[in-house]
Amino acid sequence: MSAVNVAVLAEKRWAIVVGVIIAAIVGIMVVTGLHWSSMPPSRVETIDPRTLHISGEFAEGNLGTSVGSDGKVVVRLIAQQYSFEPQCLVVPAGLPVTFRGTSTDAIHGFIVGKTNANVMLIPGYVATFTTTFRKVGDELMPCHEYCGSGHAAMWAHVQVLPPEEFMRKAKAGERMSCVRR
Ligand code: CUA
Repeated sequence: MSAVNVAVLAEKRWAIVVGVIIAAIVGIMVVTGLHWSSMPPSRVETIDPRTLHISGEFAEGNLGTSVGSDGKVVVRLIAQQYSFEPQCLVVPAGLPVTFRGTSTDAIHGFIVGKTNANVMLIPGYVATFTTTFRKVGDELMPCHEYCGSGHAAMWAHVQVLPPEEFMRKAKAGERMSCVRR
């Protein structure tokens, strides 16, 4: 067999291998696409964005940080064009903190400093995640989804307190924030 024929055979073999890999990837995309479109992801929580500020979990008096009787720290917040409510959040360092948030109008999102607290807020859905802040200090919390002309000016502050100081300030059932009144 000549060197040219050997090369042609090798090329063909690799063409078949690549073809199989591409077919497998396309197959995975088709199967997962059909699967997920026929089944909503688990843990989806919906909420009516037109009435969420009037009553229920996201009414004004419920926003901010609370410590439950079980000791769980929960932060509830709302995003709207172009601010977060509350504008300043208080959280403890070194303890798990659960965020629950939603939007009243456009798609917003936020990230807290350089931490892994990072989420999208979509009208009609409650976004939730739990994280632990490692470092005490003040962090900036900008909106990171383009939401309109005021997007660049949309941000809040997060005060990460030492856990003892946080617990001293937290009174059972009360909502905390660091918004100056
Ligand atoms: Cu809100 Cu960008």
